[in-house]
Amino acid sequence: MAAKRLVVLVSGSGTNLQALLDAIEADGAEAYGAEIVAVGADREGIVGLERARAAGLPTFVCRVRDHATRADWDAALAEATAVHEPDLVVSAGFMKIVGKEFLARFGGRFVNTHPALLPSFPGAHGVRDALAYGARVTGCTVHFVDDGVDTGPIIAQGVVEVVEEDTEEGEAALHERIKEVERALLVEVVGRLARNGYRIEGRKVRLLP
Ligand code: GAR
Repeated sequence: MAAKRLVVLVSGSGTNLQALLDAIEADGAEAYGAEIVAVGADREGIVGLERARAAGLPTFVCRVRDHATRADWDAALAEATAVHEPDLVVSAGFMKIVGKEFLARFGGRFVNTHPALLPSFPGAHGVRDALAYGARVTGCTVHFVDDGVDTGPIIAQGVVEVVEEDTEEGEAALHERIKEVERALLVEVVGRLARNGYRIEGRKVRLLP
């Protein structure tokens, strides 16, 4: 079966993007089930875009401030993504909430990875918020995006223990441990969605066998 087409959206260092690139390179796109056809970002000058360019992929940048309204930005992001005809769109550290137009076009095939065990600690500071709350376990969640903030149907989660050494100042160290689990989980989930197909039934995501 032909590899599914992925567009990956990034805002930062892009290590999750790199994990997908590495897995596709190692397995071959056909065996993995998917290929990355473009990488989009909401800002210039990030390592995530460098990784994409180093891999020879087309990139696009869609900045909120270049648009008159948030809705205009959302429509432009949707259009820039649609040009690449993705089967799945993956938000891999993309730090913007998309709007109605994007969801109208890509709802049900827009996957996000979040550095906490949802529904706990949604939003932009999932790691910091779990530490501040005193959670003893946290982790990462790969889920479909709906019109809430990190509220869509959960596909898979990975657990990471919070240890005594994880102080609030040590947010970066805990985030690194989460990201190790997260990269492997994202690679596994995206591959299975692409290879096997899936059904979203209410809040449940059924990966087909
Ligand atoms: C990941 O941990 C991802 O879960 C998080 O940003 C990191 C990106 O790392 N996303 C969010 O916090 C979204 N709310 P990366 O750029 O190295 O892949």
